[in-house]
Amino acid sequence: MNAIEWGSAAVRQWAAFAVALAWVLMCVAIAREQRRARRADALGGSGAGTPVLVAYASQTGFAEQVARQTAGLLHTAGVPARLMALSQVTVDDLATAERALFIASTCGEGDPPDNAALFVRRVMSQARSLPNLHCGVLALGDKEYTRFCGFGRALDDWLVSSGASPLFERIEVDNANEAAMAEWHHRLSHLAGTSDLPDWQAPAWEPWRLLAREHLNPGSAGGPTFHLELAPVAGAAAGWVSGDLVQVRAPADPSRPREYSIASIAADGRVHLLVRQERHDDGSLGVASGWLTEQVEVGGTVDLRLRPHANFQLGDNATRPLILVGNGTGLAGLRGHLRARAAAGAGRCWLVFGERQAAFDAYYRDEIEGWLASGVLSRVDLVFSRDTPERPYVQDRLREAAADVKAWLDHGAALYVCGSLQGMAGGVDAALTGMVGADGVERLMEAGRYRRDVY
Ligand SMILES: Cc1cc2nc3c(=O)[nH]c(=O)nc-3n(C[C@H](O)[C@H](O)[C@H](O)COP(=O)(O)OP(=O)(O)OC[C@H]3O[C@@H](n4cnc5c(N)ncnc54)[C@H](O)[C@@H]3O)c2cc1C
Ligand SMILES: Cc1cc2nc3c(=O)[nH]c(=O)nc-3n(C[C@H](O)[C@H](O)[C@H](O)COP(=O)(O)O)c2cc1C
Repeated sequence: MNAIEWGSAAVRQWAAFAVALAWVLMCVAIAREQRRARRADALGGSGAGTPVLVAYASQTGFAEQVARQTAGLLHTAGVPARLMALSQVTVDDLATAERALFIASTCGEGDPPDNAALFVRRVMSQARSLPNLHCGVLALGDKEYTRFCGFGRALDDWLVSSGASPLFERIEVDNANEAAMAEWHHRLSHLAGTSDLPDWQAPAWEPWRLLAREHLNPGSAGGPTFHLELAPVAGAAAGWVSGDLVQVRAPADPSRPREYSIASIAADGRVHLLVRQERHDDGSLGVASGWLTEQVEVGGTVDLRLRPHANFQLGDNATRPLILVGNGTGLAGLRGHLRARAAAGAGRCWLVFGERQAAFDAYYRDEIEGWLASGVLSRVDLVFSRDTPERPYVQDRLREAAADVKAWLDHGAALYVCGSLQGMAGGVDAALTGMVGADGVERLMEAGRYRRDVY
């Protein structure tokens, strides 16, 4: 009896264990099947499932534009997509994404764009384990630079070293090359499991009329700088916000558009540009700047298109105090923001601007003095490098005013930097790092309070 009782208790325990085991095995089998089904979807099917991560690293907006179109095309084909700036992407996002598309441009000398800097430091700084990730990389670049597609290549190499599997071989795009973009479109069609994705749309060129042009610095030791005003021939003022860019297509080199920062706001009805006339060593004019500043007649037309420049828009900083720092034609992007502030009447602004000679290069002097008088600007520092033997630059002025810069930042200010990549942008970055430390700079960038339009 004891034995039987012991036996029946044991049987009951074994039975319970067997049921539990069967339950666990069933769960594992279901999970495996679900994963298999999702994997099948990830490798080319369509319909619902884990969204495809579409991540972009963009400086002047092209990669972002391509990423938006990519996500849009996938949605159209019924494939859910999740669009993110690379800086927002975490290791967890990659570990759970299953499929990811990276659209990555390169800036500086083979460097990552600003909106990828955090990802590089926090995620790419070591190899990770991403065995479930299937990814495709579109690397945007320009063969005129020594390190062609430097960042796209580094990102792709890192993905492979982290165990991710390529959905297809990396596609490299030289200067928005159409054949490479068509290849990307083809890969997207395959990924979406459809052959009838809408065609790839490059933004259209439109004729704009040059309505005014003024040489601002005759007699300057620096290159001639011009204020230009253009309006669309079609009439309706196109939409842009301060911080955006235009691209110009010069007749002598239509396949290589040049970017210019917009110095006005949509309410002005005209795009204002501040253009430095380039001259090559052989004496010939710069292709696009020569076209804009000398060759096209006032009243003539220019092929132009607007390019949203999220990295440099005011965005969430619309009512924050602003420290606006720039040199040379970099005043264009800063003037756009000041005109936006003057129209909105919100927030304090401090302008730190550098050029060569006060007598010739103090562009928009009257307007700036007017803003100072009316309170749009609460402080202006003009720094002219050729007027004193010390050759001061904007970064030196920032360093001298470090206590004030820190006080503004403590009050929530955002810092906008526009102008030369060489010399100025690095110098300002170093000055800022000296004041708030590398971590502080990282935090400002992460909060969108440190933005750059540098070239
Ligand atoms: C985001 C962004 C914003 C910008 N904003 C502005 C702005 O607001 N204002 C502004 O003025 N510029 C701005 N630029 C710069 C602008 O886009 C052009 O690069 C600039 O006007 C020169 O173009 P170009 O066609 O006149 O010169 P290019 O003819 O392209 O020449 C540029 C340089 O290339 C070399 N080069 C090219 N061809 C020759 C040759 N045959 N012989 C010798 N050397 C040669 C020279 O070093 C020359 O100086 C911006 C650029 C970027 C990326
Ligand atoms: C200041 C500057 C630096 C650049 N440096 C490089 C480079 O080192 N290597 C490269 O392949 N392309 C370089 N490019 C070209 C860009 O990667 C290319 O124009 C890309 O399409 C820009 O995409 P974005 O608008 O998303 O930033 C550079 C462009 C600029 C304006």
